[in-house]
Amino acid sequence: MIFQIPDVLSADELSQVQTTLATAEFIDGKLTAGWYAKQVKHNQQIKGTEAKEVRELMRQALTRHPLFQAAVRPKQVHSLLLSRYDTGMEYGRHVDNALMGNQRSDVSFTVFLSEPQDYDGGELVVEGAADEQCYKLAAGTAIIYPSSTLHRVEPVTQGTRLVAVGWVQSWIRDAAKRELLFDLDTVRRSLYTQSGKSNEFDLLSKSLANLMRQWVE
Ligand code: NI
Repeated sequence: MIFQIPDVLSADELSQVQTTLATAEFIDGKLTAGWYAKQVKHNQQIKGTEAKEVRELMRQALTRHPLFQAAVRPKQVHSLLLSRYDTGMEYGRHVDNALMGNQRSDVSFTVFLSEPQDYDGGELVVEGAADEQCYKLAAGTAIIYPSSTLHRVEPVTQGTRLVAVGWVQSWIRDAAKRELLFDLDTVRRSLYTQSGKSNEFDLLSKSLANLMRQWVE
């Protein structure tokens, strides 16, 4: 399941992040790429130890969001990178590493930090079985997609593209199971809105909790 979260950052948070990034020192993105991804990764990022407040702010903004909670079921949001693509930079086709340090990557996210009109190119392209999806979203919007996909960032042909990218180890490893839980939870909440704590609501709640108990790891 691929989905967007508009305004995952408030206007104040977005401007705080943009101010920090405007004066931050960026280094070659190849330093955090796997051996073959180095061949296709042409971008820059902030050193792993810098901009701690910004990373923490992004982590909290995502984690507190109800849609992120319901659809991703995060156990740990990790390995957050703040990346910059200047004119001519891109990230060619790759799949994200399954393990980053001690954490598994189940779900990948990109939070756009530049407005789409501030650069040309730079679309995030996620490959599906039959076609590709392109994303170039408003600053402050997050796109969430399975880490198992092949994806790329198209070359930036003008301007600068700033993003935060990161990964999530989910309580539910399997994307299909996460989607089942999300759909059931969506129906359950809708039922509650329509008719309160009915018998149907109670049984759905029981199913949801017991599926979680079977699948959580
Ligand atoms: Ni990637």
